[in-house]
Amino acid sequence: MKDCPKQQQGWDVRYRTGQTGWDRGEVNPVLPDWLQAVDVCDRRVLVPGCGRGHEVVELARRGARVTAVDIAPTALDALGRDLEARGLDADVVECDLFAWQPGEPFDVVYEQTSLCAHPPRLWEEYAHRVARWTRSGGLMMALFMQTGTAGGPPWHCDPLAMQRLFRPVDWRWPAQVPVRVPHPAGFHELAYVLERRDARWETLI
Ligand SMILES: C[S@@+](CC[C@H](N)C(=O)[O-])C[C@H]1O[C@@H](n2cnc3c(N)ncnc32)[C@H](O)[C@@H]1O
Repeated sequence: MKDCPKQQQGWDVRYRTGQTGWDRGEVNPVLPDWLQAVDVCDRRVLVPGCGRGHEVVELARRGARVTAVDIAPTALDALGRDLEARGLDADVVECDLFAWQPGEPFDVVYEQTSLCAHPPRLWEEYAHRVARWTRSGGLMMALFMQTGTAGGPPWHCDPLAMQRLFRPVDWRWPAQVPVRVPHPAGFHELAYVLERRDARWETLI
């Protein structure tokens, strides 16, 4: 993104000054349930906009081969220390997600408070990237932020808008009602596991 250094500084300052209302300080309560249903051991898992990465640590602990991407060095330093202290390993990448492309797609993309951190004008581009990052038959574990208000960040991720973004032709949506996960900032998230339909990876790059 053109305004990346300014944007990077903005996010990093938040971490340095502790203005991180999105950070639970622990894993999202829905993650253990998901990990009971999905064995991530030895799977390639991407956590875009990972922040302090509590989920990165948990996924690595479960044996996943995790790639964690964020633009804020302070958050990534903390994550690196956390991983090291626990004797865990993950590929921690400092990069702008709008300029990053992995060599091969992932089995699982764990989407938490990353989409909603970007203004809606960037969502099409973001969704296109998520689709490229996920292999055919791979999963997106998504927590769509519900603020119920205009403006952001965090930006409200209306479920209908999410279905337009992550189109049912590209993603298999679950039939069940999504789990509602309270967020410490006073909002809530809707939790969905979407399955990537035929990704035709080669034609998308
Ligand atoms: C609201 S925070 C969420 C962090 C983490 N997912 C969590 O739930 O604790 C959004 C994260 O996205 C990162 N971010 C924002 N824009 C980014 C970009 N263009 N590329 C990579 N990371 C970005 C920020 O540094 C921040 O860590």
